[in-house]
Amino acid sequence: MTKQSKVIVITGASSGIGAASAELLAKEGNRIVLAGRRSERLQEITSSLLSKGYDAIFATTDVTSKKSVESLANAAIEEYGKIDVWINNAGLMPHSEFIKDRVEDWNRMIDVNLRGVLYGIHAALPSMRNQKSGQFINVASVAAHSVHAGGGVYSATKAGVWMISEALRQEEAAAQSNVRVTVVSPGAIATELVDNVTDRTTQQNLEKYYQQTAITPDRVAMAITEAINLPEDTAVNEIVIRPTSQG
Ligand SMILES: NC(=O)c1ccc[n+]([C@@H]2O[C@H](COP(=O)([O-])OP(=O)(O)OC[C@H]3O[C@@H](n4cnc5c(N)ncnc54)[C@H](OP(=O)(O)O)[C@@H]3O)[C@@H](O)[C@H]2O)c1
Repeated sequence: MTKQSKVIVITGASSGIGAASAELLAKEGNRIVLAGRRSERLQEITSSLLSKGYDAIFATTDVTSKKSVESLANAAIEEYGKIDVWINNAGLMPHSEFIKDRVEDWNRMIDVNLRGVLYGIHAALPSMRNQKSGQFINVASVAAHSVHAGGGVYSATKAGVWMISEALRQEEAAAQSNVRVTVVSPGAIATELVDNVTDRTTQQNLEKYYQQTAITPDRVAMAITEAINLPEDTAVNEIVIRPTSQG
């Protein structure tokens, strides 16, 4: 059990890394606010957490909408009185080469992976400043650090998450606000991420690669939990986590 129960908001909690993090952090005695667009999935996961005696609520949220993300923050504060940790995890990775001209996919990645993170900061930072404590965990990717053909826009959004996080860290350190910033950069993790790749050939190739290489999302949840559980005068600023066998 943790020393102290925290109020933790998780975007993209309806599957994958977000759902695994909700499970582990709830098990550790924290109060969890699960967010995502798929209400039924969120309802199922929340009910399962409650049936185990854990504390959780969910709020149907689209992170591409500033209003929706503001409502999520309000729901957390209404239910639990504060936000200790905000995990900007919602994201998608519809890889394709530029010549395929999948402009809609580019825009979705920019809207969810980048704008969604900014809206999360917008919604949660003021209350963290006021209470003089808090933590953002922004999920980037190993793709924030390198790029491959077909992954240009995804890498750009994830490198953007890295840069936004580092600027936020510096600003909060200068303000002495006691707000911690952690970037989590996973490699191949077995989630629904590849299911949402729209280019068929790319999706098949990724599926093959993930089947051979990927580790389960609870591994990332463990790393996130450790970053949260460190004493508050200590911030892990980046965790790069991938399968041992990933090249
Ligand atoms: N799996 C990997 O190999 C890997 C590697 C590096 C980084 N990551 C990053 O890890 C994060 C989590 O992804 P995952 O691997 O766990 O994939 P996932 O299982 O597909 O989960 C993605 C989550 O994002 C949510 N989401 C998508 N669009 C949204 C929107 N507009 N508003 C709110 N929520 C939205 C989805 O929920 P709804 O559909 O219910 O909205 C879902 O819960 C992403 O940022 C991803 O880029 C993953």
